[in-house]
Amino acid sequence: MEHLTSISAVRERVRAWRREGHTVGFVPTMGALHAGHTSLVEAARRACHRVIASVFVNPAQFGPNEDLSKYPRDLPGDMLKLEQAGCHALFTTTPDEMYPEGFATWVTVEGLTDGLCGRARPGHFRGVTTIVAKLFNLVQPDDAFFGEKDRQQLQVLRRMTRDLDLPVRVHGCPTVREPDGLALSSRNLYLSPADRTRATALSRGLRLARAAYEGGERQAAALERVVRAELEAAQARVDYVEVVDLATLKPVAEAGDDTLVAVAAVVGATRLIDNHRLGDAFPGA
Ligand code: PAJ
Repeated sequence: MEHLTSISAVRERVRAWRREGHTVGFVPTMGALHAGHTSLVEAARRACHRVIASVFVNPAQFGPNEDLSKYPRDLPGDMLKLEQAGCHALFTTTPDEMYPEGFATWVTVEGLTDGLCGRARPGHFRGVTTIVAKLFNLVQPDDAFFGEKDRQQLQVLRRMTRDLDLPVRVHGCPTVREPDGLALSSRNLYLSPADRTRATALSRGLRLARAAYEGGERQAAALERVVRAELEAAQARVDYVEVVDLATLKPVAEAGDDTLVAVAAVVGATRLIDNHRLGDAFPGA
């Protein structure tokens, strides 16, 4: 795997691939990689001739009281995992290269960013859309791969790509989970053993909501209560439990297959998120 450390090196590498007739798949990440990230690389390998990943802890998407300085970093480990997943190139960069002195241009998606994580993390999605638009511009991939674990992010990035006519196909990939259901996340590294056990309440709540839906429950309020009860029993601090339309991310009163149950909760000191589309089988259930 080639390690590219500047914008010009990335442009050159991708240009050479194109001259050879290759299609290019892109997987943006913030590092501390796990099997969720490498599943995106594997999906990109299946769809494209060449795969490039990026590792950049993007300061613009962290709030002033968030975990930017202590966000987990492990570049040697990340490189090993990417290599094993068959990634062809890795781009790493610095805040100075991405946000040079005088940086003043932001990409914002309105509406879709108001609710769910947008409410608790003002400015977060503006940071995500701006960095992903920049990365799309400098990599210029044919296809880009994102996880359904961050479903609001995926929907926001789809909308940005459509609205700005960016010539990239955005793919959503299924959430990779631990055997006990916990969605893989770089932030799981923060959990103490006791909190790690309590963290299973998120996926358990979603699984129970899906079971209730399968059993005929259509009332959003009832489905929400099912998830909330699991979180409260585990003494997780609920940020939100919402039953929303997948396309608009707005709350619905009655659930259908394209309804998303989305949850954010603080376990110990760690904010975790998860979601499930009710029309899908819950993995392992
Ligand atoms: P990060 O949290 O590192 O996630 C990178 C990608 O991996 C995202 O598309 C995310 O949805 C996906 N991912 C994380 N956990 C996953 C899991 N358990 N299963 C499947 N996919 C998973 O998301 C970001 O970084 C940043 O916001 C970024 C898009 C890179 C912009 O800075």
